Formats: sequence, C-alpha cells, structure tokens
Amino acid sequence: MKFFIDTANLAQIKEAHDLGILDGVTTNPSLMAKEGIKGHDAIMQHYIDICNIVDGPVSAEVLGTDFAGILEEGKKLAALHENIVVKVPMIKDGVKAIKWFTDNGIRTNCTLVFSAGQAILAAKAGASFVSPFIGRIDDSNWDGVQLIEQIVSIYNSQGFMTEVLAASIRTPMHIVRCAEAGADVCTCPLSSILGLLKHPLTDLGLEQFLKDANSLH
Ligand code: E4P
Repeated sequence: MKFFIDTANLAQIKEAHDLGILDGVTTNPSLMAKEGIKGHDAIMQHYIDICNIVDGPVSAEVLGTDFAGILEEGKKLAALHENIVVKVPMIKDGVKAIKWFTDNGIRTNCTLVFSAGQAILAAKAGASFVSPFIGRIDDSNWDGVQLIEQIVSIYNSQGFMTEVLAASIRTPMHIVRCAEAGADVCTCPLSSILGLLKHPLTDLGLEQFLKDANSLH
C-alpha cells in the first residue's frame, strides 16, 4: 500500500518525505485555505512547491463544478508539473470531465466518494484514483473500511484499473484496516502516520536496552 500525506502544509510534507516512506500528496480546497494560500498565482506556486518536495502523484483539486470550468482548470493544473493528478468531485459534470481527462492522457483522482456505485462510475470514466472518505463515513455512523473492502472486491472482480485511495483517515488503526482491506493507497494526516510508530512495549524495551547498554561501557 502506498502512503500519501493529506495536507498542504509544506513542513509536514517535508517531515513525512524525510521519513522515506512517502509516495505522494493529496490536497483539497479546505487544506489549502488552512495554510492561508489565496489567489490563483499563489495556489499554482504552492502546487509546484509540493511537487518539488515529493516525487510522486500530487492531487490538486479543481474549484469549478461545471464541465467547461473543470476542463479549463484541470488542464492548467496538469500543465504545472508531470506529477499533478487532477482531483475532480463525484458529480455528473465531474464524471464527464474525468472521462475527457482520461481520453487526453491526464490523470485524475475522483473525490468525495461515499458509495460503491459512485466508485463504479469513477472507474468506468477511467479515474486513476478513487477517494472514498472513510472517516466522514464513520462520523455518520457507517463503516468506512467496509466500503473500502467492497470497492476493492468489485474492482478486482471487474478488472478495473482505478486505484483505491482510502481518504479521510483519522487514526493509525484506519491505516492498518485499509491495508488489510486491500486499499492501493492511504492518504493520511502526519499525526496518523507517526501514530503507527507508537507502542508502549517498544518504549519500555528501548528504555531497558539503553540502561543495559550503559552497563556495558
Ligand atoms: C482526500 O483526498 C481529502 O483531502 C481528505 O482525506 C478529506 O479528509 P477529512 O474528512 O479529514 O477532511
């Protein structure tokens, strides 16, 4: 399973990259706003800055919702850097745009996916990635990981090539369960990635080893 970081914060992207386990980045308009990025030029520059840190897919989301607007934005985003993946919402014009991008060699990430039916449509349109939001599904009292299992099983049996990108990750356990469910990619906040490191027995064991190591001098 590939690890993407779900942030527009350059320091966090660098930190995850320096760990040596980062395969890509996802952003969205809320994450860009959180970093105070405003205006067309600043947004474009920020995507270039991210691409200069990580050599892997970087999802940049379109802001428009109509077919012509999505195409215009998506073409500009894709032209910024070869690693840009155009992130398109799961709406009627979005599906149409994904098909157009696919036919024209532009990679896409279909976002805001909450059902297997939506994931089938995204795959039929040729999306490179599909992003089911598992944390938000859990928040609404459904099981997000179960949706990942269902989409993985459908894609496998149907031979769809779209990669299942588990998004809206909230905890390290989400990452473990997505790996078990067969997700191709997990996009996570830095806190969840670093959370994977933690185990109290590791801390206790290391404390003891360091104590014993001192006695060896
Ligand atoms: C996916 O690509 C989204 O950017 C993201 O995972 C949404 O997560 P949230 O539900 O924590 O906002």
